[in-house]
Amino acid sequence: MAKNWYSAQNNEKKFWEDIYLKKDNKDLIYSKTNDDGWVGFAQEILFRHKIDIKDLNNKVILDIGSGPGGLVLGLSLLKSKESLKFNKLIALDPLMNFFKKEINLFSSIDDEVELYEAKGERIPLESNSIDYVFCTNVIDHCEIPENVISEAYRILKPNGLFCPSLHLVYNLWSPIKNYLKYIDKNHPFHFDKETILRMLKKNFIKTDCTYNSKIIYDQPKFTFLNIFKSRNLLRGFKRFASNYILFTSYFKCKKLSN
Ligand SMILES: C[S@@+](CC[C@H](N)C(=O)[O-])C[C@H]1O[C@@H](n2cnc3c(N)ncnc32)[C@H](O)[C@@H]1O
Repeated sequence: MAKNWYSAQNNEKKFWEDIYLKKDNKDLIYSKTNDDGWVGFAQEILFRHKIDIKDLNNKVILDIGSGPGGLVLGLSLLKSKESLKFNKLIALDPLMNFFKKEINLFSSIDDEVELYEAKGERIPLESNSIDYVFCTNVIDHCEIPENVISEAYRILKPNGLFCPSLHLVYNLWSPIKNYLKYIDKNHPFHFDKETILRMLKKNFIKTDCTYNSKIIYDQPKFTFLNIFKSRNLLRGFKRFASNYILFTSYFKCKKLSN
């Protein structure tokens, strides 16, 4: 149960420990990702935000809530394949020291990325300094989501792009969205599409939804039958039920030049 941000983050840390540090990870769904997996992940994120990878050439790119590798690792691996050069590649996460020391995926690209242990609510970067800010599956994990959005706005250069994606609740479940955190233990917040669009548009007048995805598309194993194959029946059931409660949306938000 995610009563608050701190308990959600404890659960988040455990989630990554189970995948990367536990000797016998018997989870049916989540397992270690290899280089091809990170590359595919980055390509899919760019496709869903309708960003051409060539547009990232010579740009300053930040991933808020990077996780242990995520987009930054994928982009770094893609760089040589696509003959690209980034001006700067930056990853920020409140669990960064844990990711660096324990999970140790960033070590292979240590010399080409800047890594920060920090929260998106208070980003240790200068205003108007970043071309692209990504934020994949993070906003509903944060302590004060509105502040993360306004920080993204602050650090972006004029005409820079903020590209967040997150799980949203179908309208049917909107009336109970504030209670879902009691059954969904990694998320302090659950938003519907109307709410997140309102939040984004407070800072980013030009905001478009570029893609919507069903949970089952990204997680084909979240099926009814897999509830019974799961070691943890309740977790298997919650994963299956998430198909009917949540979907994922991708947004592209532009900081207009004055
Ligand atoms: C579901 S993971 C997503 C990781 C990565 N973006 C990916 O897609 O693989 C959520 C991440 O958000 C981070 N997070 C939680 N609260 C945050 C905050 N206030 N600011 C920035 N990141 C935060 C967590 O530490 C975690 O790494």
